[in-house]
Amino acid sequence: MILQLEHIYKDYNQEKFVVPVLKDVSFSVEEGEYVAIMGPSGSGKSTLMNIIGCLDTPTSGTYFLKGVDISGRSDSEMSKIRNKSIGFVFQNFNLLPKQSAVENVALPLLYSGVPRKERRERAKAALEKVGLEDRLEFKPTQLSGGQKQRVAIARAIVTKPDILLADEPTGALDTASGLQVMELFKQLNQEGMTVIMITHDPDIAAHAHRVMTIRDGILSSAEEEEFYYEEE
Ligand SMILES: Nc1ncnc2c1ncn2[C@@H]1O[C@H](COP(=O)(O)OP(=O)(O)OP(=O)(O)O)[C@@H](O)[C@H]1O
Ligand SMILES: [Mg+2]
Repeated sequence: MILQLEHIYKDYNQEKFVVPVLKDVSFSVEEGEYVAIMGPSGSGKSTLMNIIGCLDTPTSGTYFLKGVDISGRSDSEMSKIRNKSIGFVFQNFNLLPKQSAVENVALPLLYSGVPRKERRERAKAALEKVGLEDRLEFKPTQLSGGQKQRVAIARAIVTKPDILLADEPTGALDTASGLQVMELFKQLNQEGMTVIMITHDPDIAAHAHRVMTIRDGILSSAEEEEFYYEEE
């Protein structure tokens, strides 16, 4: 088991109100799995992703990542764990606009203390892997949406994380570029990477091997959902 969430609750405090967002979420992911989490807008997908990605902590519940209890860790411990274990891909790429593709991809290696020359070599290799070896010195404004997302994927994998965590990775892309991203995820997963992908698009979710659904902060497996609809 690469990760395990047990009875996770997340509330946001809004002035006098408490907004409950995640309600008793429990699930686990095996090493090498490819999982999609679906759900409507506002259902808590990004909130859940932030917790899985150690960007935020739950209000209560336990989170084990690679067997280690993450709950109650300090921010600096969390960022160490995050840098080592998780590669992020976002809907809007989150690339630094003034840096070239190869500089963007090399950046996470700077934080983990890799020497300059090796940073560049590894960034080049990651860009080659996503088919962008001919775009090393291009800035984000000089790249298409699909190319920007492939740079972001190269940046996510350059540290060789255990888990690739993607929040609506195809949300800003046309169908063809979205499919290219799905091809890359499939290849990375076949090479052993655990992939967790958040999407509201059923066609995109279908690329994963297991689909879960979150509605109003409650997570269920897709099979349970079908059962629910049949009962109606
Ligand atoms: N920092 C915050 N403070 C207060 N409420 C928040 C905060 N972040 C999120 N929420 C609330 O939590 C709920 C879930 O938000 P979240 O971003 O997880 O949804 P989502 O499923 O990712 O939606 P989308 O598909 O639109 O991205 C929303 O109702 C939102 O208003
Ligand atoms: Mg979201």
